[in-house]
Amino acid sequence: MQQKAKLVCINPNCGKTYSIKSLAIKCDSCNFLLDVKYENKPSSSLKEVFYERRNPQGSIYNESGVWRFRELLNFCEIETEDIEQCSKYLVSLDGAEGRQSKPYHMSKVAEFVGLDNENVVFQPEGYNPSGSFKDNGMSAAVTHGKMMGAKKIICASTGNTSASAGMFAANENMECDVYIPDGQIAPGKLSQAYQFGTQMVKVNGNFDDAFTKSLEAAEEPGSYTVNSVNPFRIEGQKTIPYRALEYLNWEVPDWLVYPGGALGNTSSCGKSLMELYEWGWIKKIPRIAVINASGANTLYQLFNGIFDEEKLRWNEGAPNFELIRRFYDEMSKDENLKPKTKATAIQIGKPSNVAKGLRALEFTNGIVEEVTDKEMLDGMSVVGLNGFDCEMASGASVAGIKKLRDKGVIKKDDKVVGILTGRQKEPLLPIDYHNDPSNKFARPPKI
Ligand code: F0G
Repeated sequence: MQQKAKLVCINPNCGKTYSIKSLAIKCDSCNFLLDVKYENKPSSSLKEVFYERRNPQGSIYNESGVWRFRELLNFCEIETEDIEQCSKYLVSLDGAEGRQSKPYHMSKVAEFVGLDNENVVFQPEGYNPSGSFKDNGMSAAVTHGKMMGAKKIICASTGNTSASAGMFAANENMECDVYIPDGQIAPGKLSQAYQFGTQMVKVNGNFDDAFTKSLEAAEEPGSYTVNSVNPFRIEGQKTIPYRALEYLNWEVPDWLVYPGGALGNTSSCGKSLMELYEWGWIKKIPRIAVINASGANTLYQLFNGIFDEEKLRWNEGAPNFELIRRFYDEMSKDENLKPKTKATAIQIGKPSNVAKGLRALEFTNGIVEEVTDKEMLDGMSVVGLNGFDCEMASGASVAGIKKLRDKGVIKKDDKVVGILTGRQKEPLLPIDYHNDPSNKFARPPKI
C-alpha cells in the first residue's frame, strides 16, 4: 500500500521525512520538531459526512468529537468507514473525547468582554472525560503509541496531561509514568492521576525540569512520550478548531483565543488552519491570540520585543534560537523571570513547541497578550455565572479577549471564539474568590 502519511521536519530548510511508524519527535539532522503530513487532499464534501456523524448510528467513532473527523487525521491509514479497522486502531474512551465540547454562547461573559453575545462563543474543552482539552490529543497520541507497540506512556505535566494520559493508559491496559513538579499541581489533577493508577515521579523543580526528565525516561525501549512535542498529540488537537468551525458552518471567525503554556494548542490550531486553507476548505484565515499568564510570559516577552528589542518571529523557518537561549539563561539566574502564577496549568517558562507556535502566529497574523492572576480569576468566575465551569488558566482566554477588546485590537463587530481549556479541579480557588468581597464577581456567604 502506498504511504499516504509521513512525518516531516518542520524546518523548511531541512524537510527531512520519516516513516509514520517512527518514534522520532525531533529531526535528527536539525533538531526541529516534526509534523504529520498527508499526501491526499481531503474533499470538502466531508463536511457533510462529519455533520451526519453527529447522529452516531451506533459507532463510537462517530460519537467521538475527535474521530468524527478521522479522515483529516488518518495517520493510521485505515478505511475510515470500516468499523473493524477503526476499532483495531483508534483509541477512544467509548467515544467520549471531544463529544461534549462545542462552542456555546455565554451572555454574561460576552457582556464582560465587551462583545455582543451573537459575536462571541466559548468552547468548554473541560467537558472532556478527563476534564481538559488534552483528551483530544491524547486519544490520537495513544493511538500512535499502540500502533508502535508501546507498553508504557510517559509524560511530564502541570496536571491535566497526567490525568488524560492516565485515563487512556488505564483503558488501554498500558503503564503510565508521570513526571510532575512536586507541590505545584492542583490537587484535583494529582488525585486523578493517582486514581488512574499512574506511577508518579516527583521532580524537585518546575514543569520545565520535569519535562526534561520525562524525555530522558521515554528513551527506554517500549516507552512512548505523550507531551505535546509528540506530533500525534497535535493531530488530535486539530479537532478543537474543527468543532468550532463546524458549529459556525465553516464560516471563519476573526479570532481564535487560547491560553498559552507549552504552545501545543497554538501549534495544533495553526496546523489545522494551514491545512484547511491549503485544501480550500476555508478562504479566510482567523487570527490566533495566545494569552500568557503575566507570571509565566516567555512568549509574550519574546514575541513583543520586551526582553530584547528584537521581536521573535518564525522568520521563514529560522527563528532566532539564540534569543530564546538568552532568555532561558536569564531565567535561570533571575527569580523574577521564573514562571510563577496561581494558574499552575500554564506555569511554564520554556514552551517546548515554540517554533511551531511561531509558525502558527505567522500564518494567522497572530498576537500574544498577557493577563494577571486577578484577571484570570475574574474570567474564570464570570464563566461560572453562565452555568459553565472552567479552571483558572482557561480564564486567560476570557481575560485576554477583554483586554484585547479594551485596547481596540479586537473590534466591536469581530467574531471571536474563546477556548476554555479545562474544568475546575481546584475547588479552593472559587471558594477563596467568593469569600473575598473585593473580587469583582464575588458573592460572599451570608453568616
Ligand atoms: N490550559 C490548561 C487547562 C492546561 O492544562 C494547559 C497545559 C494549557 C492551557 C496550555 O496549553 O501547553 O497547549 O499551550 N497543560 C499542560 C499539562 C502543560 O501538563 O497539563 P498548551
